[in-house]
Amino acid sequence: MTLKISDSITWVGKVDWDLQTFHGEEYSTHKGSTYNSYLIRDEKNVLIDTVWTPYANEFVDKLRQEIPLEKIDYVIANHSEPDHSGALFELMKHIPDTPIYCTANGAKFLRGQYHKDWNFRVVKTGDKLNIGSQDIMFIEAVMLHWPDTMFSYLMNDGILFSNDAFGQHYASELMFNDLVDQAELQYECIKYYANILTPFSRFVDKKIKEFIGLQLPLNQICPSHGVIWRNEPMQIVNQYAAWAGNYQENQITIIYDTMWDSTKKMAQAITRGILAADNTVTVKLYNTSQRDRNDIITEVFKSRAILVGSPTVNRGILSSVAGIMEEIKGLSFANKKAAAFGSYGWSGESVKIISSLLKESGFELINEGLKGLWNPDEAIEASCYQLGQQIATALKNK
Ligand code: FEO
Repeated sequence: MTLKISDSITWVGKVDWDLQTFHGEEYSTHKGSTYNSYLIRDEKNVLIDTVWTPYANEFVDKLRQEIPLEKIDYVIANHSEPDHSGALFELMKHIPDTPIYCTANGAKFLRGQYHKDWNFRVVKTGDKLNIGSQDIMFIEAVMLHWPDTMFSYLMNDGILFSNDAFGQHYASELMFNDLVDQAELQYECIKYYANILTPFSRFVDKKIKEFIGLQLPLNQICPSHGVIWRNEPMQIVNQYAAWAGNYQENQITIIYDTMWDSTKKMAQAITRGILAADNTVTVKLYNTSQRDRNDIITEVFKSRAILVGSPTVNRGILSSVAGIMEEIKGLSFANKKAAAFGSYGWSGESVKIISSLLKESGFELINEGLKGLWNPDEAIEASCYQLGQQIATALKNK
């Protein structure tokens, strides 16, 4: 499948319905993904990005049906990660001298991955490439989400090729934002931002302000994953601006794991306490060993506060809680409160360990956390309930 985006632009990417995880096993892709590659035909023909390595041969065969490969005058590599550069190796066997436009880091990273000294043309923000009837302007987009990333902007058409930014891991044959299920699209956008872009929010904020400052017309955004924003493309830019600004909804998320349901009972009692103090707040409970961790992280991203619970096991915490805490730490969430809880039988280290992890991860601790001995009795359940009330009240009065 190829798809006409405009008179001069054809999408020549890959819709990957089979993809279940991305970045190895780090990111769940319940709805697959797409690797978007774009062919621009003008006096000079330009290919923007390619597809992931397993689809390299399929990509080159399909591209050849669209255009004789030797008629591709320029390749633009907006980003060197293998989901976009993976077919370059195969493509460049056929057109080894064709210039590849990329940032200085892009050239470095592509050399590092493919060990080929292709004809790199290093560009910086503001550099332009004339392709006949119009120019393509390059805009470096450092840390959105790698140091090499850049955007390419087709000047007369007002089309931004934004690579990973504004994308989603969302397979669709329809390929345009106005044609797909809006709730699915919104969810995949926020999940993508929460799990991939959160640590780089200050770069996102700065880049959006810089792009808006250029006062360029924006008729379409063509990202490298998911649908093309042809209907009100500024909606996703504005959404990113909101997400980059310490985004929160009126939500508290409780994440926990449990061995014999004691920590689970504590989570439930905390929930009752929260709702007793504030019945307008959304409370969500997730067992970290049963639910998808990227979906949980999406809920953490939306939350004003989180509670994290684990029983003590072998003087430590359960592995599913340790695993998600490692991811949460890396994402550098800002402006969120937190507290720990958990059951124990004898040594009882889990609450202290989780509190320390939360603090290291940048959360403001509401209190020192709550330990519950054995199966919660009425007194412990009451303490959990009070903890819930205390958190809800603290957030309500903020
Ligand atoms: Fe879609 Fe950073 O690669």
